[in-house]
Amino acid sequence: MLLLVCYQVQHAIAQISKIDQRVDSVLKRMTLEEKIGQMNQYNGDWAATGPITKDGDKQNQIRKGMVGSMLNVTGVNHTRTLQEIAMQSRMKIPLLFGQDVIHGYRTTFPIPLAEAASWDIEAIERSARIAAVEVAAAGIHWTFAPMVDISRDPRWGRVMEGAGEDPYLGSIIAKARVKGFQGKGFGNTDAVMACVKHFVAYGAAVGGRDYNSVDMSLRTLYELYLPPFKAAFDAGAATFMNSFNDLNGIPATGNSFLQRDILKNKWKFTGFIVSDWGSVGEMVNHGYAKDNAHAAMLAANAGSDMDMESRSYIKHLAQQVKEGKVKMSVIDDAVRRILKKKFEMGLFDDPFKFCNEAREKEQWNNAAHLLAARDMAKKSIVLLKNESPLGRGAGVGLLPISKQTKTIAVVGPFAKAVKDHLGFWSYDWADDTARIKTLWGGIQKKLSADSKMIYAKGCGITDTSKAGFSEAVNAAMNADVVVVTVGEERAMSGEAKSRSSIQLPGVQEELIKALVATGKPVVVLISAGRPLIFNWTADHVPAILYTWWLGTEAGDAIADVLFGDYNPSGKLPMSFPRTEGQIPVYYNYYNTGRPAKTENDLNYVSAYIDLPNSPKFPFGYGLSYTRFDYGQLQLNKTTLKGNEQLNVSVTVTNSGQYAGEEVVQLYIRDMVGSVVRPVKELKGFKKIMLQAGESKTISFSITTNDLRFYNDQLKFDWEAGEFEIMVGTDSRDVKTKTISWTK
Ligand code: BGC
Repeated sequence: MLLLVCYQVQHAIAQISKIDQRVDSVLKRMTLEEKIGQMNQYNGDWAATGPITKDGDKQNQIRKGMVGSMLNVTGVNHTRTLQEIAMQSRMKIPLLFGQDVIHGYRTTFPIPLAEAASWDIEAIERSARIAAVEVAAAGIHWTFAPMVDISRDPRWGRVMEGAGEDPYLGSIIAKARVKGFQGKGFGNTDAVMACVKHFVAYGAAVGGRDYNSVDMSLRTLYELYLPPFKAAFDAGAATFMNSFNDLNGIPATGNSFLQRDILKNKWKFTGFIVSDWGSVGEMVNHGYAKDNAHAAMLAANAGSDMDMESRSYIKHLAQQVKEGKVKMSVIDDAVRRILKKKFEMGLFDDPFKFCNEAREKEQWNNAAHLLAARDMAKKSIVLLKNESPLGRGAGVGLLPISKQTKTIAVVGPFAKAVKDHLGFWSYDWADDTARIKTLWGGIQKKLSADSKMIYAKGCGITDTSKAGFSEAVNAAMNADVVVVTVGEERAMSGEAKSRSSIQLPGVQEELIKALVATGKPVVVLISAGRPLIFNWTADHVPAILYTWWLGTEAGDAIADVLFGDYNPSGKLPMSFPRTEGQIPVYYNYYNTGRPAKTENDLNYVSAYIDLPNSPKFPFGYGLSYTRFDYGQLQLNKTTLKGNEQLNVSVTVTNSGQYAGEEVVQLYIRDMVGSVVRPVKELKGFKKIMLQAGESKTISFSITTNDLRFYNDQLKFDWEAGEFEIMVGTDSRDVKTKTISWTK
């Protein structure tokens, strides 16, 4: 075994140095213009995710070796056409094709925030793997994912692309996604390069307004925003993308501290960094560069290796080199990084390696992928509430609905919706209308032959008219159960989709009120790309499922949960605020010098006079159709020293009627620190399956590694003292024990 490992390591080293030699031999023969060409990326004009600068001359430029990469060129046909042109260039350097594959390609998976709610790391990795398989078969080498930006602000539309508010959960998910995309490694035709984005702190934009500035302490940067990037780097991510925001006054794209000092020098990242769309040129708007030539100089010197669509490099970088403003070594380093990835992907050996029509066709409607998407979708759903409706015994929730129910009213704008289930950053295939599983269809498949369904739209997502309410109320009056489905439309969360109000849009909550007024049991499904505010619904409706945007299989997955074929197990990856005025609200806050003792404490404490401090639904929260009871925490010791290990165990019992999964969460609080520490920090979790009546003892082991934090000198270390160890079903409901740990 050891011999085999040694051989593999030696082989890998030999491969790397062989690639380095090949890169050098190419680099040596390139002109300055050709080198800068490698640092230039264009959009393919077939689709666009930003303002396109059209000059109609892209193909000529490819032929002249002035383009290193294209984005938004998909399909074997298109990529082959452009690669053939690249092969006519003097150096015959293959193009890299990049694409935003954020939650699936042909098969749309749940949005990343929804997947994060599953806390099912294997399923998340599988989702990324399948996306890679599908898109690699369509000629793509590189996905602009995972997006690993931590965010505490649901007004920011891009929370839908990430894993929520927590750096620990975010790091584990970042790693899983990188592994999923990159598969067994480059050289395989089903592995695509990951691009970790957006480096960095983009999710902390002031006011939750996209592209806005970010100002934060370095400690916060290190402790909250960098960890998922570091985890993705450790998992071997091939590339990084910088971000639109400035951080403490310096645009990320021109930020040498971030790109050179941290990423390339400290972490020793050997891949390349691509700018975000146009972000090199945007440094002029920031007021950081006086023109695009200046921007090109600043970005290249700061370590941005490739310019996405701003054309600053291709137009100005050569001149900057000639004037001595950018050293040749900076250019060589960037080009070396880019070429190296092209070699690793095997593109120099076969530029058409990813262009295989048969493989592309095979992945077009892949049944196994759809199955995985359905599995991921049902695991992403979060049960927020399940109370006893009229006529059912105490403690018996309204859900799941019986398949024998005589009449179900299916109401609301999502009842028969198709594309709105896909969410932002999804592909609009011509045959989607037939492929996407509607909620209506999903419910229909579950009900017995004697059951009846009544449809009423009630209102559109953003409608202000209540004209459809009476039809909806009639439907409810004639039904035994009402399922009403509301939310955000596809383009309401995502890039450039910040909202100052995150209430349910239009008159949707009014519709819910009208339906509840009928006295019929009402189940509300909320499909959205972010945490929304729906206080009336939360307080008056007996059963609520948060169904996010779940992708191609949405309708069937929701029906699986509604009728109990799957017992919901999702847990919120972000706190849900009570009002916008409470934002940012997050679980890992500091206690302050005047903490409120209760939700109503207003005695000169840190509180709002008109609102409790707690969120409406806390981080980590999510119910099940069954009940999980937690026993007391068992610790192997309560006083520890140095390298000792703390073992924490707890017995969890499924004391309800259904088999189900539970996410057992471990939090730690460092009671006194040389800098103040959060009231709790997630440090571990386990997703377990328990049959009805079954108990399991779950254990976590903790070492001083888990106690480390950045002190005011930015040193990452732990400090002796007292710690609260908490285990529970969410960040609010935990069992606690205190220990002390000395050096
Ligand atoms: C987004 C990136 C994306 C890029 C290319 C930008 O506007 O911020 O996340 O990868 O466009 O589509």
